[in-house]
Amino acid sequence: MTTEPRIIIALDFPSAEPALALLQGLPPGACRVKIGKEMFTRLGPDFVRAVIDRGFDVFLDLKYHDIPNTVAAACRAAADLGVWMLNVHASGGRRMMAAARAALAERDNPPLLIGVTMLTSLAEADIAEIGYGGSPEQNVLRLARLGQEAGLDGVVCSPLESAAVRAALGDGFLLVTPGVRPGGSSEDDQQRIKTPADAIRSGSDYLVIGRPITGAADPAAALVAIQTEVQGALVAMKP
Ligand code: C5P
Repeated sequence: MTTEPRIIIALDFPSAEPALALLQGLPPGACRVKIGKEMFTRLGPDFVRAVIDRGFDVFLDLKYHDIPNTVAAACRAAADLGVWMLNVHASGGRRMMAAARAALAERDNPPLLIGVTMLTSLAEADIAEIGYGGSPEQNVLRLARLGQEAGLDGVVCSPLESAAVRAALGDGFLLVTPGVRPGGSSEDDQQRIKTPADAIRSGSDYLVIGRPITGAADPAAALVAIQTEVQGALVAMKP
């Protein structure tokens, strides 16, 4: 089930200090936080605990992909850290995802388990080169369906894919989307983007947004503006 807040700030900093300074200045309860491979590799579990201790839900974006036993053990370790959401590569296969699900099912209040379908950095030619047939969208839908069957709570997808994934997999399957840019902000290196309101209207549940907030002159104001846009879209969608 989707719960507020919908905005997940991607913390992509080379050290802890600017990240914690940013969080210090944000209105409490206004966002969640994604910690990925760079910060985790530099700073480890202590940094994750420091963010959780400051009251933020953490999406640990380490995209586990290994044999089922190893992924299950990694999921238990992430759950021990107290993260709110974690992810695995759906291309690790049904048994790997089911092992992750089973490991988390041992917990009273398990983190949400999300699948990465196709990396959006892969174009059709890249996908063919690694031996997958079909278009990126066909692969996204196939892997998302497999993830749903294996018991995942949702998938990461581009906001351009949200509507198709939502239509194929129904309500209740969480869609977590990066590639979101408020109107008028820099695209940075993102190419396949939507605005926050369009992403919500397309069926995205959670929006992963980094530089439009972390690089803003006033990050708290940037967050509030995006939140207002998201709330406006949600209210307009209510039946
Ligand atoms: O700064 P920006 O909003 O582009 O950050 C987006 C975040 O989402 C980054 O941490 C990036 O690694 C991540 N991400 C992405 N596209 C994907 C998967 C993850 O931008 N397909």
